[in-house]
Amino acid sequence: MPVALITGASAGIGKEFAKLFAAKGYDLVLVARRKDALEQLAAEIKLTYGRASHVVAADLGCSTASQTVHEAVKAVGLQVDVLVNNAGYGLNGPFAKVPIETHADIIQVNISALVQLTRIFLPGMLERSNGGVLNVASTAAFVPGPMMAVYYASKAFVLSFTEALANEVSGTGIKVSCLCPGATITEFQVRSGMDKTDVFKGAVMDSVTVAKLGVDGLERNETVVICGLKNQLAVAAAHLVPRKVSASLVRKLQDLT
Ligand SMILES: NC(=O)c1ccc[n+]([C@@H]2O[C@H](COP(=O)([O-])OP(=O)(O)OC[C@H]3O[C@@H](n4cnc5c(N)ncnc54)[C@H](OP(=O)(O)O)[C@@H]3O)[C@@H](O)[C@H]2O)c1
Repeated sequence: MPVALITGASAGIGKEFAKLFAAKGYDLVLVARRKDALEQLAAEIKLTYGRASHVVAADLGCSTASQTVHEAVKAVGLQVDVLVNNAGYGLNGPFAKVPIETHADIIQVNISALVQLTRIFLPGMLERSNGGVLNVASTAAFVPGPMMAVYYASKAFVLSFTEALANEVSGTGIKVSCLCPGATITEFQVRSGMDKTDVFKGAVMDSVTVAKLGVDGLERNETVVICGLKNQLAVAAAHLVPRKVSASLVRKLQDLT
């Protein structure tokens, strides 16, 4: 059976990725901190899709967590065919007031763990000339994000990294996609302190639709998948105006000070 490893599978978009890959016949490696939520999802997946899940409770904010995940996968004799680097978070607030530990943790979870896991699992895919890497960035990747500067910059990294990787592995049989959701109803908006901002006012997407766009995009080997027409138009508009103007607009949307 092919295996999909999904980080951030305990909630939101990641949970939906897990169900979609199970429905396609994949066994799963589910990674997040909340073991109970992962075990509950594993049971639901077994019941609904008859697929097996291996639960790995790990804090990707820890620099050795990717290695722990690798050891856990090796210990049960699995190979990873599709890697979904979905875990990520941000925190609303002025850069100088958010604790340095939080900035470092966001960089570790959103960037370093994603790079480490890709470096760990890509060589096996290349050897087999088969596999996929789906990295979750955001429409935040396309603009500077005052009041969430590190989060937006982390997603710009994910976009650039994934585009470069897609080029490097083209023609090898490995598919690489970067999913860029806009505002999506998950636990993210409360956890990031974004629920009180204007970002989540108006049309937002649901996690099932967003995850499906990601899986479909990876299947088509589409390098960058921007979720939904509204977000596609917003990104197109951002390309037309100076980045200073984008920064001012984003600040207006999410400044709670
Ligand atoms: N929702 C949006 O509006 C939106 C928009 C654009 C991009 N995104 C991106 O979409 C991805 C998924 O987010 P979501 O919206 O589904 O948010 P969510 O509902 O908060 O889910 C985030 C997932 O990441 C996991 N996670 C967070 N920190 C972790 C850590 N230190 N170690 C291991 N796992 C960790 C969480 O699990 P535990 O808490 O159990 O560890 C959870 O499963 C993120 O990369 C996010 O940046 C979201």
